[in-house]
Amino acid sequence: MRLLNGPLQTVIDTLLPESVFDFWLEELGALHRKRRVMARVVERFPETPEMITLVLQPNGHFQGFQPGQHVDVTVEIEGRKLTRSYSPSRPVSDEGLIQISVKRVRGGAVSPFLCSQVQVGDLLELSQAYGDMQLPTPHDFQKRPLLFLAGGSGITPLSALFFELAKRAQRDTIPTTTLMVWAPTDTDFAFRDELETIARSIPDLRVAFITTRQALATPLDSGLEHSDPLNSGRATLEQIAHRMPNWEQASVYACGPAEFVGHLASLTKGKVQAFTAEAFTLPTLSADDGHASITLDKRGKTVTVSRGETLLDSLEHSGETLESGCRRGICLTCACQQVSGVSENIITGERQQDAGMTIRPCISRPLADVTLHI
Ligand code: FES
Repeated sequence: MRLLNGPLQTVIDTLLPESVFDFWLEELGALHRKRRVMARVVERFPETPEMITLVLQPNGHFQGFQPGQHVDVTVEIEGRKLTRSYSPSRPVSDEGLIQISVKRVRGGAVSPFLCSQVQVGDLLELSQAYGDMQLPTPHDFQKRPLLFLAGGSGITPLSALFFELAKRAQRDTIPTTTLMVWAPTDTDFAFRDELETIARSIPDLRVAFITTRQALATPLDSGLEHSDPLNSGRATLEQIAHRMPNWEQASVYACGPAEFVGHLASLTKGKVQAFTAEAFTLPTLSADDGHASITLDKRGKTVTVSRGETLLDSLEHSGETLESGCRRGICLTCACQQVSGVSENIITGERQQDAGMTIRPCISRPLADVTLHI
């Protein structure tokens, strides 16, 4: 609801301090703010027993997003502001509505609140969108097939990309794309009916669902027994090759828990054309991996840190402050140049040793002494 328009709005915007301006608009239940992105919940519906979708109408400050990107959602719970990152699960609608799908994390603070407490009409604060897990440009569409690998609620950025491809297929050529989803049981697959409907009508888009704990009740691939390892269990190259024989020519996008993404990164290492990964948890690092020296060249400081921590955590523990945001390697807020040394991307296991390369300290740990341009 926009309460004021035109010159009067501009005068009030200019004269009132932001805190006063926002306070009164909040009291009035308005969506507008001086600068902040707010969004009203206009619809909510379940995707699985543990996941709901919130349909959001953002105010005019929101600059939009590309499918595959993330937004931070901030809520106030018992007087405390808490922020979590979610990836819109479908492309923006023609009316400018965005959808986030939230899986309830047992013992979590924000996801149970969003799943159970937030109702139609409530307001949430959003960040601008960020993240670089995006489709290749149309110019590059013909070069390689795409392989999307999703673990559990890691489906959300990949479903947005898949739905976007389905939209583009109405008017353009799209790359052949296979989306594979792993989840514990049949009831944990979000968007399954929609995705299968798309796969039945668009030959270039394929989907497969694999349960990790319980055999599929209704396997997509006819001829496979429920207990067939191609149809259930931890991700394997055989499962992938069965759905996509030319997987080695693919650009791979993987998203899920750290263990899932790390496992797929090591399975496909050096065998696929490109591997883009995001994890919504970080792997546990061993505290017994010794120490390394980190030199911050602009600050003229050297600190000794544990190799069993991320560079961001260990520098913070040493009293150094670094700008950070998502702490999961997505927003690039912490990105900096590694002048020399060797570090490791803890999500993909990739060694980072090219002088001058940009690394993300929140998902990197030192393998040897490192100099950062900080
Ligand atoms: S990439 Fe977001 S804080 Fe490091």
